Amino acid sequence: MSNRYAIILAAGQGTRMKSKLYKVLHPVCGKPMVQHVVDQISHLKIEQIVTIIGHGAEKVKAQLGTTSSYALQEEQLGTAHAVIQAKDALEDKEGVTIVVCGDTPLIKAETMENLFQHHLSNKAKASVLTAKAEDPTGYGRIIRNEAGHVEKIVEHKDASEDERKIAEINTGTYCFDNQALFNALKSVSNDNVQGEYYLPDVIEILKKQGEIVTAYQTSDFHETLGVNDRVALAEAEKIMRSRINEAQMRNGVTIIDPQNTYIDAGVEIGRDTVIYPGTTIKGQTVIGEDCVIGPNSEIDTCQIGNDTIIKQSVAHNSSIGSHVNIGPFAHIRPDSSISDDVKIGNFVEIKKAQFGKGSKASHLSYIGDAEVGSNVNLGCGSITVNYDGKNKYLTKIGDSVFVGCNSNLVAPVTIGDGAYIAAGSTITDDVPGDALSIARARQVNKENYVQKLNLKK
Ligand code: UD1
Ligand code: MG
Repeated sequence: MSNRYAIILAAGQGTRMKSKLYKVLHPVCGKPMVQHVVDQISHLKIEQIVTIIGHGAEKVKAQLGTTSSYALQEEQLGTAHAVIQAKDALEDKEGVTIVVCGDTPLIKAETMENLFQHHLSNKAKASVLTAKAEDPTGYGRIIRNEAGHVEKIVEHKDASEDERKIAEINTGTYCFDNQALFNALKSVSNDNVQGEYYLPDVIEILKKQGEIVTAYQTSDFHETLGVNDRVALAEAEKIMRSRINEAQMRNGVTIIDPQNTYIDAGVEIGRDTVIYPGTTIKGQTVIGEDCVIGPNSEIDTCQIGNDTIIKQSVAHNSSIGSHVNIGPFAHIRPDSSISDDVKIGNFVEIKKAQFGKGSKASHLSYIGDAEVGSNVNLGCGSITVNYDGKNKYLTKIGDSVFVGCNSNLVAPVTIGDGAYIAAGSTITDDVPGDALSIARARQVNKENYVQKLNLKK
């Protein structure tokens, strides 16, 4: 097998996105477009990947890291000019170079592999991946001769009315004989409507030199969608979402309404977990087996055990054990760690808190900056008073503590194992283990006082 190289074009600003974020960094199902491309290319046994960077260069580099090497395109003079920047890295290599645009996030490794095979079996110097588009507006069109062979590619803006009627488009992915590519690039001019050096012109140049140039048409136009604006971004997101949901379902996850379930590319979900509608699962979330998630929940970067239920709730950057019951309407904020068999009920907010096994906060509580032991019962309205307006303080609650309803635990404070806090207490001092602590005014009943005041008619 000949050596394989890859060039990813990612230097453009993405003017049509009208965004502060550089185009190829726009996420599709939580993953930047260019990362989708690199992840697929990494299945292809490539010797070296060179990513052409320009706008947002440092950010693109930070995103892709060491999976790619980089070449800087200081001025964006067109896609051919972009490829020329890889000259120092690749010019002398023998083999096949695949060029892919960083704004085609749906392209699959399998299709690129087919393009490689097609290119090699035809002994071609250049092969372009094409597709039939329902609406080809904006794409380069494939011009074939009477025998059906590719002659050239004409950009939409340069195309005649007749050429614009052609439905077969350039997907922006090509295989080239590496040395033929760098030779032909020397002949590309910018004599066109946009005044740019077009990479697709290499096809015509090689053809005119009498070289073999071929096209491989994929049947799935969607896979080759080029994202140039937010409308296409939403379309790409929709297609990627249905791919992800389908893969999850084929792995044994039940998704009640796949059109209304939003799962990021990096999420792992175990078998027999059921996802109800209106649920978004983001980041590097890992969910175990037999869980029930949703409806209407947002989980971002959480590790969740088995057999856990999360209904109508939000959980971020936290770990949640097995057999845990959360919601409805709970909010688990970052850096929380919830052990097995815990119950977090309605209108409970947890922030940077650890919950030991079997503990409960069933209703209307705020537990922040806290270490809660195991088998603790936090009654309705329990509050950790963690903030004095300037600093945050820790509340430590031992094992088997019972906190009566509507209690304030003013941090820093420690409640010993087995202690019992009377309802309505405002605890400002540490409570020893097994003590009963009552910290509220005593009740006074004034007999017949109402009549005395003559309040009753
Ligand atoms: C390009 C093709 C078009 C094809 C379409 C497929 C050209 C001239 N046209 O058009 O035939 O149908 O892709 O999606 O190639 N880039 C650089 N440096 C530059 C210019 C662009 O790195 O100087 C990068 C961009 O960041 C982008 C990619 O190249 O990732 C493609 O550029 P874009 O402007 O999106 O080209 P299209 O107009 O989509
Ligand atoms: Mg594009």
